[in-house]
Parts: sequence; structure tokens; C-alpha cells
Amino acid sequence: MDKPTLGFLGTGVVATALCQSLGRAGYRIAAVHGRDSHRARELALSLDGARAAATRQEVADESDLVVLAVSDDAIAAVADSISWRQGGAVVHCNGAASLALLQTAQRAGADVGVFHPLQSFASAEQALRLIPGSAFRVEASSDRLRGWLTNMAVSLGGRPLALSADPALYHVSAVLASNYLVTLLDLAAGLWPELGSTREDGLSALLPLVRGTIENIERLGIPSALTGPIARGDVGTVARHLDVLREVAPHALPVYKELALRAIQVALRKGTIDRERAGRLEIVLGDRPGGAPTCGDARAPRGQGGTGCGSRRPTSAS
Ligand SMILES: NC(=O)c1ccc[n+]([C@@H]2O[C@H](COP(=O)([O-])OP(=O)(O)OC[C@H]3O[C@@H](n4cnc5c(N)ncnc54)[C@H](OP(=O)(O)O)[C@@H]3O)[C@@H](O)[C@H]2O)c1
Repeated sequence: MDKPTLGFLGTGVVATALCQSLGRAGYRIAAVHGRDSHRARELALSLDGARAAATRQEVADESDLVVLAVSDDAIAAVADSISWRQGGAVVHCNGAASLALLQTAQRAGADVGVFHPLQSFASAEQALRLIPGSAFRVEASSDRLRGWLTNMAVSLGGRPLALSADPALYHVSAVLASNYLVTLLDLAAGLWPELGSTREDGLSALLPLVRGTIENIERLGIPSALTGPIARGDVGTVARHLDVLREVAPHALPVYKELALRAIQVALRKGTIDRERAGRLEIVLGDRPGGAPTCGDARAPRGQGGTGCGSRRPTSAS
């Protein structure tokens, strides 16, 4: 397999994880450079035969392919600070951006591309564990570079993805699945002090539930993995949830309602509720006129606002 000699710009979590995992996969990393020369030296020392270059230009001159693993906002400026040669190659790792960020390099005759690991790199150690099995968005201005990037993804135990739509949409999908899962768990664990416990205890109690859910999604897929009151069509339970949120945690209501409305669509696809039950759930969630049911009687909608159930006891999520 044709393996380009690599150079890295940036010494952050992605640069460190990619350098080390590509080094282990048999790629030669010629040089690394970062604003923090101490970190660049440390990174170079952790790699076989790499050196910490004094300038970005040296990295570009000594490698077949430069990986720009710098913050999204710095990519264009860093790329523009280098004199690219005809036949050179450079990629950035920003999932939301296209090749346009590297247009100066392309105009100078370099091949340009994107190499985006679809993974959450919270630390370099975690990233090294998580890279195998991850998908990589690969985009390139030439077949040669596309071949290099595809081989790099495969060498890392990953799955190359070639997508044609706006990369920002792909990145939205990644952010919904990863960053907003973290945000959702922050919201969920944040309710635990109201239960006489702590946010930390809440998170550790919720994590096995999250793992079980992920396993169900992996094994059974969506919509089969959806459980809970929406999947069962338990209108009264949803009404009690809304009551307690109005009383104790109104900040969580908009997210709860929006996700519940989405969950109704998943439950319809699963086939465990029919259109009529979906309509009742939408009424209680306030998405249709008709009012909310009284406590314990999901078939009797009334007025607006709360159900008046008054229960502050949490109900099962699954
Ligand atoms: N983290 C993830 O989960 C993840 C996943 C996939 C892709 N990515 C992408 O990978 C790229 C790097 O992200 P990261 O998570 O590795 O970020 P990071 O850990 O914050 O590292 C960013 C690097 O960029 C350098 N940098 C920042 N501003 C700069 C500037 N103006 N000029 C030169 N260098 C600059 C930083 O240098 P200093 O240390 O001197 O500040 C650091 O070396 C981004 O494009 C990101 O979108 C990240």
C-alpha cells in the first residue's frame, strides 16, 4: 500500500491521537509543529523518527501529506501561511467545512482534502482506544489523495465515508448524536438534586441505562429500541412528567416536549401506538388543541395547563 510521509500541524488532542495511531499503523511522521514548542517536542518524542520542526513551512517541505489538526477557526490562516508546492497535499480535520478552506494551497497546485474522524476526542488516550471502528469523512480534490485518505482510515481500523451533501449537515448529525447526548445527560442528571441525591450519583445511576439503550439500538435498531411511556402510549404518565417538570424544573420542559413529539413519530414507526393514541399524546404535550387528560384518566382531556396530578414522584423512563 502506498503510504505518504506525514507532517502534522497542531499538537492538540486530534493531532496527538492521529499521529500516534497512524505511527502505530506503519505511517512515517516526518515532522510536527505547534504554537507550543514544548508540546510539539513531546509529541515528536512519542513518535518513531519524527522531529519537532521550527516552522510550519519545514513540515510542509518534509512531508507528502500535511494534516492540519488545528482549531477550526485557525485552519485557513495556518494553511495560507505556507508556500505550497505543486504536487503537495494538505487536509484539514473540520467535519463541518469543505475544501474551500484550503483554496490557497489548491491554487498553488497542492491536492487538498478533509480527513474527519467521526468520533468524540475528549482526550488523546480515549481517542486512541476509540479510533478503531470509527467512521472517517474523506473528501479529496484528486484520486491520489482520496486513495491515501481511504487507506489511512482503513489502516486505523476505521470506515471511510464519501458524502456528497453539505458537510455542515453531516456535522449537525454528529453533534446531535454526540455533543447533545452529553447535554441531555447533563439535563437528566441535573434533576437528581431535586430527588434528594446528587448530580454525580444521578449520572452514575443513569449511565447503565444509557449503555443498555445504546446496546438495544445496536442490536435491534431504531424504532425497535424505543421503550418508555411514548412507545407504550401511556398518556397519563407523560402528563405526570409534564406536571412535575412545570413544578420543579421548568427549564427542562421545552426539550422534554420536543423530544417527546419526535418519539411519537418513532413509536408510530415501531407500530406500538396508532394514530389515535399519537394524537392524544400530542394533545397532552400541547402540540394540538384539546387540553390535557386528568390524572389517571388518559381518555378524558380537559382545559389547558397542568393535569393537577400533583405527584412529584419520578416515573420510570424505560
Ligand atoms: N475533538 C474532537 O472530538 C474532534 C473530532 C473530530 C475532528 N476534530 C477536528 O480536529 C481539529 C483539531 O481539534 P482538536 O480537538 O484537536 O483541538 P485542540 O485539542 O483544541 O487543539 C487545537 C490545536 O490548534 C492549535 N491552534 C489553535 N489556534 C491556532 C492558531 N490561531 N494558529 C495556530 N494553531 C492554532 C492549538 O495550539 P495551542 O495548543 O497553542 O492553542 C492546538 O495545537 C479541528 O478541526 C476539529 O474540528 C475534533
